[in-house]
Amino acid sequence: MQRNYKEAIQHPIFKIISKAAEELGVESYVIGGYVRDFLLGRKSPKDIDIVAVGSGISLARKVAEKLENTPKVQVFKNYGTAMINAGDFEVEFVGARKESYHFDSRKPVVENGTLEDDQNRRDFTINALALSLSSTDFGALLDPFNGIIALEEKIIKTPLDPDITYSDDPLRMMRAIRFASQLHFKIEPESLKAIQRNKDRIKIISNERIVDELHKILLSSTPSTGFKLLYQTELLPIILPELTNLQGIEEIEGQRHKDNFYHTLEVVDNISKNTDDLWLRWAALLHDIGKAPTKKFNKKIGWTFHGHEFIGSKMVYKLFKRLRMPLNEKMKFVQKMVLMSSRPIVLANKTVTDSAVRRLVFDAGDYVDDLMTLCEADITTKNPKKFKKYHHNFKVVRQKIVEVEERDHIRNFQPPISGEEIMKVFNLKPSREIGVIKEAIKEAILEGEIPNEYDAAFQFMLKKAKAIGLNVVKK
Ligand code: CTP
Repeated sequence: MQRNYKEAIQHPIFKIISKAAEELGVESYVIGGYVRDFLLGRKSPKDIDIVAVGSGISLARKVAEKLENTPKVQVFKNYGTAMINAGDFEVEFVGARKESYHFDSRKPVVENGTLEDDQNRRDFTINALALSLSSTDFGALLDPFNGIIALEEKIIKTPLDPDITYSDDPLRMMRAIRFASQLHFKIEPESLKAIQRNKDRIKIISNERIVDELHKILLSSTPSTGFKLLYQTELLPIILPELTNLQGIEEIEGQRHKDNFYHTLEVVDNISKNTDDLWLRWAALLHDIGKAPTKKFNKKIGWTFHGHEFIGSKMVYKLFKRLRMPLNEKMKFVQKMVLMSSRPIVLANKTVTDSAVRRLVFDAGDYVDDLMTLCEADITTKNPKKFKKYHHNFKVVRQKIVEVEERDHIRNFQPPISGEEIMKVFNLKPSREIGVIKEAIKEAILEGEIPNEYDAAFQFMLKKAKAIGLNVVKK
């Protein structure tokens, strides 16, 4: 018996589409992500994809006429699609089509087709599930590729030969991996092999689309699933060679370093338990990229990665630029996190002093909490004693940050005495001495010699000025 999922399409919009389609004498179906996510019980999907066996654009127009306030129909003539914003939903209409592709492009040659032709051209069997909107079998499931079984078995597979599906539209290789990471699905082995075979085709995909999928992988609950699949299928060295360069363990004279690639993935999974901030997750992904170019072996001290934080933060810029990611404050945030990524651990290794905490807060500013979150995630030691010790020390650091903050207000530090005032008091023109005095006041505050207050800073300034031979002119 044919399965029916009327309950998926109870919202009045579906009846309206059904009626409009019948008036035009075309069949219509809900297809793709909406059906998939409903059957998976994921939070109610906001995008609805409708296939009309006929003109999708005409159906969209007819539906718009029937809706309250007659929403605008956005028509994408080149793609033969149309979109309507209908209350909570974005509804996209397309005419059922057959597609054929050229080797060097994602843009298919399109012909009108049947529903089955349209299901064939889709990426995965779980995305080819369609529900009928005809009044005679409203809610009937049309599933020629057993997508429903794939959903139950949590399998990602393509309706056609995977080499064809991936070569036609190589973005689907990223989508397969992204769905595996988001939904905790397995990619069918044949499909996985096809991705590896077709990996170089990813080069015809725009960076923006690749980054979109990377974001979705990073925002999944265990992003390492996606990154391991990208690595296994050899897509990762094409997209993010900075990461694969971290892979491997070298041994010289019995001294080994850890595999910084797998360490990184652990850090990303760890941080994902504590934050949904995309950019903080990016920072976790990139925090060690400077380790590949700075790796050295020294007979006395073993493996070193001197200055990897600085080099890493420079690499962040190049990576963002190459992938056409925003070169704005998001990038600067990631750079800052990478640059400062070793600071708290150095603190947590020894007794935590107030002045060290003040310096951390001073340098990290508003990002100090994010930095702590990153550094806690960076603890991947398998030694339970060390694990406990580091976490305990970080707790102490966090506590001290609160105390120092309450007392000294170091975050977003503004010097209590301005350069202008120093000039007035000592009747100076802009000169080096002003910088010297300002720097000395800042240092005294960070070292805890004086509190971060005007009077104390003024007295300190007088002392400092005297020491360098300046006289007070006016108080
Ligand atoms: N599709 C496809 N190949 C692509 C992109 C999309 O075959 N490269 C098809 C799939 O049937 C997909 C539908 O178009 O279900 C809608 O695509 P999209 O809205 O991008 O994805 P969803 O599957 O809805 O999932 P998500 O919203 O999570 O991206």
